[in-house]
Amino acid sequence: MEHQTDVLVVGSGLAGTRLALELAGKCSVTILAKGPRDEGSTRYAQGGIAAAWLEEDSWEAHVRDTLIAGAGLCHREVVDRTAREARERVEELIALGVEFDQRSNHPGEYDLHREGGHSARRILHAKDITGAELMRALLAAVDQHPDIAVLENRMVINLATAGWRAKLANDLPPDPDRVLGAYILNSETGRVEAYSAKIVVLCTGGVGKVYIYTSNPDVSTGDGLAMAYRAGARITNMEFIQFHPTCLYHPEAGNFLISEALRGEGGVLRLANGEAFMHRYDERRELAPRDIVARAIDSELKRTGQECVFLDMTHFAREQIVHKFPNINARCMELGIDMAVSPIPVVPAAHYSCGGVATDLVGESSVRNLFVVGETAHTGLHGANRLASNSLLEAISFAHHSARVILERLPDMGQAKLIPPWDSGTSSEPDEQVVITQVWEEIRRFMWNYVGIVRTTRRLQRARKRLDLVEEEIRNYYWDFQLTGDLVELRNIATVAGIIVDSAMRRRESRGLHYTLDYPSQDQRFLTDTIVQRKW
Ligand code: FAD
Ligand code: SIN
Repeated sequence: MEHQTDVLVVGSGLAGTRLALELAGKCSVTILAKGPRDEGSTRYAQGGIAAAWLEEDSWEAHVRDTLIAGAGLCHREVVDRTAREARERVEELIALGVEFDQRSNHPGEYDLHREGGHSARRILHAKDITGAELMRALLAAVDQHPDIAVLENRMVINLATAGWRAKLANDLPPDPDRVLGAYILNSETGRVEAYSAKIVVLCTGGVGKVYIYTSNPDVSTGDGLAMAYRAGARITNMEFIQFHPTCLYHPEAGNFLISEALRGEGGVLRLANGEAFMHRYDERRELAPRDIVARAIDSELKRTGQECVFLDMTHFAREQIVHKFPNINARCMELGIDMAVSPIPVVPAAHYSCGGVATDLVGESSVRNLFVVGETAHTGLHGANRLASNSLLEAISFAHHSARVILERLPDMGQAKLIPPWDSGTSSEPDEQVVITQVWEEIRRFMWNYVGIVRTTRRLQRARKRLDLVEEEIRNYYWDFQLTGDLVELRNIATVAGIIVDSAMRRRESRGLHYTLDYPSQDQRFLTDTIVQRKW
């Protein structure tokens, strides 16, 4: 079945919904979501969104903090604009109905949290469920625009580009780097559908599921990154995977984050014997940037042989805990952990991808008319390490600037070009699902062990060797058997894992989130973005 729309937005998280709302009423917009429309990292965001708000704070200080965390690789123009406009972008969210917490005895004044690497209190939040509040308000706003179609259970498999179409027709590509639409697996019918669009915007979120331990939800399999790579887009800085220092350590916890905001309120990291250790690693202690805290925990776990460390919030009165962190408190209580009296067991886990599809200042990738917004993009804001609560800010900032340019461009674009229907060839029903689960588990485990918080050249080489084997296996399976969502995701995590490993191998230094024992210091020769691009 052939569908057409002006703008195809892949992803219904903060980036996708915010962008669609900027376009609403001015063109036709279709948002696709792989599962339920509110499922994605946005929904689970806890800490909040950063913007200099208080008189004693300034956007220049926000810039400084972002640059320090970014360890030399932030793009200055992007950081300046994002921090300078942060308040305006957040006020737009408030106008759309997002309710951030206000101080109890000071109505009208926002309750600002502080998080690692920030020199001031500047995190707007809604209790510890900021993401759920964002999704509530934005989806309600989307529902008021009947011209925005939101289609759930539609998994984009691949992008269609002019070059690819010309290749099919055995023709020379007239304009190889132009997107024409996408192929979508409709999980309600099991069929693959073609969507033609003048503009495609990837808002598919992160890549956390490439690792066995992650704070990310199941949809974060790096689909957008993998399909942009296959379409020939430039990918940058994928070695910089952020490991959040504190995810709940409990056999029944699943992927549950213990927000950095707890450390912002004085939470202390301790070993099982009660000893605090962060003072041995950084003078900012628990409020050092995440890479430092995660590495410190990793090093303590390796040194002591213990399975987790503990975040101690027992200095906080129970009423304060319940008032400020009701969601975290409830989850801990369900698992028998009363954080008012006993420290919370925590471990680091893969959390955020600082690299992504390279975009320009308005979110366009190196493939024309393919925009990328949110965690899938590499805009240059985060450099080698993202400052807490700058991700949600990046999503709304680039949604705004991308929408402006898309609206300028659309009137001159004519009709969307039809893309050929999907050809499923002679593929048959998959024979053994166990192949998918086996390879899925294998990739995620060796990525954790070999391409995790602390790397070495040998570990990276080992990971590369294993990837070569599993990539071959996946390739055969992919073309022989009918497509399923699991198979699409497996191919994508393998592609993303390969990009992470290749990027990490090229950076022969330690900087920000990339730490290797073979090159433990920064090296000025690597003060540049790592670029990976598929060769045709
Ligand atoms: P997401 O919100 O992840 O949305 C991705 C969308 O893409 C989903 O709708 C999904 O269905 C869709 N999708 C994916 N693949 C496909 C496909 N193949 N076809 C169709 N649709 C697809 N950042 C902060 O700044 N502050 C915080 O407090 C904070 N807390 C966090 C807490 C947790 C637990 C996590 C995991 C992250 C947190 N982050 C935080 C990071 C931040 O939440 C994310 O970077 C941000 O929400 C990403 O938004 P997004 O719109 O890019 O993607
Ligand atoms: C957190 O609440 O600790 C997550 C914040 C973030 O990832 O920016």
